[in-house]
Amino acid sequence: ARGAAPEADLAGRHVVVSAGGTREPLDPVRFLGNRSSGKQGYALARTAVARGARVTLVAANTALADPAGADVVRVGTALQLREAVLKAAADADAVVMAAAVADFRPAAYADGKIKKKDGEEPAPVALVRNPDILAEVSAERSREGQVVVGFAAETDDVLANGRAKLHRKGCDLLVVNEVGEAKTFGSEENEAVVLASDGSEVQVPHGPKEALAEVIWDQVVPRLAPRRA
Ligand code: CTP
Ligand code: CA
Repeated sequence: ARGAAPEADLAGRHVVVSAGGTREPLDPVRFLGNRSSGKQGYALARTAVARGARVTLVAANTALADPAGADVVRVGTALQLREAVLKAAADADAVVMAAAVADFRPAAYADGKIKKKDGEEPAPVALVRNPDILAEVSAERSREGQVVVGFAAETDDVLANGRAKLHRKGCDLLVVNEVGEAKTFGSEENEAVVLASDGSEVQVPHGPKEALAEVIWDQVVPRLAPRRA
């Protein structure tokens, strides 16, 4: 654990962290959402501030207090999150996609509240794919030497799925955790493996999300591009 004066190994760096879960609206009062609380992303933002970084936190539908010292950009949908992340990534040294981004959104948005009608079955909800923001950021690398970190929540074959996902997304690091009803979501704690594209694998024992955040930054720092003059 770190003491009161953490090493400022992110001083002079701009890092972007996405957190929370996107909501994809069906009508003015309903959405498709997920169970992400945003706590892991907020822990990443707090620890990065403590390590001296300039932090942009792109927060999707979180109910958490703004971390002191971070620039917070609030978003709702996956498309809004994409826009905010790509904009902030333009001059970022590292981008960490901790947000749970909806893979699909409703194909149509009803301007008025959807009403039920007596004797009628509900219409199926048609969905379309959302863009893969992590894959896009990884492919783009808007700043040379930018380090890109993804997360993966898996319920089965955690490591094999994680490795495959790391290569598919093209990111440098993938933080894989096993999820289930009682695991991870909304919890203060987490347990994970940090997989790297260079083959390294760091096991992080069950513990506070802050501790996992520190391990992630420990893995990011040596991979950052040399500081520019
Ligand atoms: N992600 C993203 N854009 C999406 C979906 C996911 O940027 N449209 C990011 C998440 O923020 C996370 C990583 O991709 O960092 C992995 O998310 P995950 O849902 O595990 O991956 P998927 O490729 O969507 O695979 P799956 O079919 O298992 O959901
Ligand atoms: Ca997904």
